Amino acid sequence: MNAAVNEVLIIGLGLIGGSLGKALRRSGFCRKVVGYDRNAMELAAGVSLGVIDEAALALPDAVASADIVVLAVPVKAMERVLTDIAPFLRADTLLTDVGSTKSNLVEAAGRILGELPPTFVPGHPIAGSEKSGVAAADAELFRRHKVILTPLPNSSPEAVRQVARMWLVTGAEVLQMEVRRHDEVLAATSHLPHLLAFSLVDTLAQEEDSTEIFRYAAGGFRDFTRIAASDPVMWRDIGLANKQAVLKQIDRFTAGVARLRAAIEQGDGETMTGIFTRAQSARQHFSRILTSTAYSQAMTTRNVTFHVQPGGTVNGTIRVPGDKSISHRSIMLGSLADGITEVSGFLEGEDSLATLQAFRDMGVVIEGPYQGEVKIYGVGLHGLQAAPGPLYVGNSGTSMRLLTGLLAAQPFDSELTGDASLTKRPMERVAKPLRQMGAQIETAEGGRPPLKIKGGQSLTGIHYDMPMASAQVKSCLMLAGLYAEGQTSVTEPAPTRDHSERMLRGFGYPVEQDGNKVTVESGHRLQSCQIDVPSDISSATFFMVAAAICPGSDITLQHVGINPTRIGVINILRLMGADLELLDEREVGGEPVADIRVRYAPLKGIQVPEDQVPLAIDEFPALFVAAACAEGETVVTGAEELRVKESDRIQAMVDGLQTLGVDIQGTPDGAIIRGAGKLGGGVIESHDDHRIAMAFTVAALRADGEIKVNECANVATSFPGFVELAQQVGIKVTKEEG
Ligand code: S3P
Repeated sequence: MNAAVNEVLIIGLGLIGGSLGKALRRSGFCRKVVGYDRNAMELAAGVSLGVIDEAALALPDAVASADIVVLAVPVKAMERVLTDIAPFLRADTLLTDVGSTKSNLVEAAGRILGELPPTFVPGHPIAGSEKSGVAAADAELFRRHKVILTPLPNSSPEAVRQVARMWLVTGAEVLQMEVRRHDEVLAATSHLPHLLAFSLVDTLAQEEDSTEIFRYAAGGFRDFTRIAASDPVMWRDIGLANKQAVLKQIDRFTAGVARLRAAIEQGDGETMTGIFTRAQSARQHFSRILTSTAYSQAMTTRNVTFHVQPGGTVNGTIRVPGDKSISHRSIMLGSLADGITEVSGFLEGEDSLATLQAFRDMGVVIEGPYQGEVKIYGVGLHGLQAAPGPLYVGNSGTSMRLLTGLLAAQPFDSELTGDASLTKRPMERVAKPLRQMGAQIETAEGGRPPLKIKGGQSLTGIHYDMPMASAQVKSCLMLAGLYAEGQTSVTEPAPTRDHSERMLRGFGYPVEQDGNKVTVESGHRLQSCQIDVPSDISSATFFMVAAAICPGSDITLQHVGINPTRIGVINILRLMGADLELLDEREVGGEPVADIRVRYAPLKGIQVPEDQVPLAIDEFPALFVAAACAEGETVVTGAEELRVKESDRIQAMVDGLQTLGVDIQGTPDGAIIRGAGKLGGGVIESHDDHRIAMAFTVAALRADGEIKVNECANVATSFPGFVELAQQVGIKVTKEEG
């Protein structure tokens, strides 16, 4: 019956019914919108305000001739109306409603109609305002709002499709949910806040000096209680209709308030900070996932494109954000320590924030980050609590792999999930050795996330000969080793970043190092400390390469971490002939730091020494760009790990550089790049990989046309503020968000 809807009958011309009528009339979805309301004045107003085409005088006739009947009466009146209209519903008439509760309606329909007809599709538009009545009807009310349909097992797909279409033409987005789930979700997100707003205002209004209170109640009171001006009868009915789910939420809330009360009474600021910081971050997260409509369930896809104009030089002195690897570990070890750990220079990128959130989810109180400062109230090695749901770590492989080791040893079950890119990355490399230690870990097909980790397993230390050079695998096993019986040791085929080892020692936890073998044993504790996170050499790399390829450039990068396990990029650039100086070398909190000055000097192609590859593993996208601008051939081998990073970085760089006209050939474990004097412009796919996006931004300095880089949102995972900093030093990049 597509497009052939003749009559829609809306029973109940309140705000929702009236707005639907107005929107349907405007859309041309049906030939005629007929309205019915017990209140003759409202009904007449419906016609005169253009909300409906026609007022139904007798309900039976109107029902008999309607193609779609929409029940838009208060939830408590649904049963009565349904009883009235049941005898007149044709077998092919679609029946739907707009009520805020669904179980009660479905039960009532079962009683009244006997078997539930396939034409019955309950629905609930998540829209409204504190205004009521037909005069408030607004054809735009549903635009970009969600409508939840709760089809029943025997609702026909055609009926569901048609009801969905009716809502889509109003500009709404249509979702489906099970009846019971709908009622639980709405009890928490809508019914409870309304009941609380009514209750708070009523409580305050009953105080003797209420006028005084209201006179001085400013923004907070107004914001919190706006919905207490809603229709009292409607909300009474909703409260009663969704009784069980609402009672459950009131009890949970009451328990929460009691916890807060006790904390205030006992002067327990830490518990209060915990409640407030968790709430603050949940609220911020919520605002982010809201696309200006309620009840969005998935992260919205962010569409960020970089447009980079060719040419320019880079000059200046800058400080790039904090080291990602160290930031992750500061949260992890700070949480597991006894006492309060204070971190400065923390990277406020999405990856390290995902780790921070995961620990908050596991009950750790964490203040900040505020301008890179974080305060972690450690819970000790045995103080983590089960998270309320799966731990979502976004794009961050480090979070997922390190957490897997830690969670495998906890007394509770956990689940780790991530974004689309992370979900493609190999996790068997950590699951396998952890299983040898006694862990129970289930992966999705092909050893990919999500990971389900069974708690309560007692782990035993092992010796593991790591088949690949991976600091994430090594660190994962060390974290599990803090809990495993006896010693846990790992040998690595080549040195990888040793931040875990250094930081564990910084927290007073013994770590033995013997050549390429690192050993920890359980039975010790971590003692809180201060951590000063140096700037990330991986982020600094983009500016080092920028200056190295661009005549006239001279840049100084301050306070960069130059841990020997991370300086492959410095060694490789120097081998290529870069003019790179380390100034004011010093040590900060167990990590070596320096200012790095790079001035332009012509680069030449080299065979990259394989022993430098793990020490520069994240820097290859930028190094490929340097090679493309060097004179002669650069050959990279032994870098197969690049194929399993946030994207297949070998392929992404080969494709992108070929687009810019570079002679480059990918190999299974690297690439052969023949340097070109100039690069061309073009459109680059970054494959949602932050480092690919930033590498091609830098490439524009040597291009002769604009470079457009697609899918750059993930630059925020490791380098918030990249575009602004790049602009500041002279790269002609702009960001387009769509
Ligand atoms: C990291 C280790 C490296 C690196 C990643 C961060 C870490 O990964 O690529 O960006 O913090 O331990 P692998 O261990 O997979 O080489």
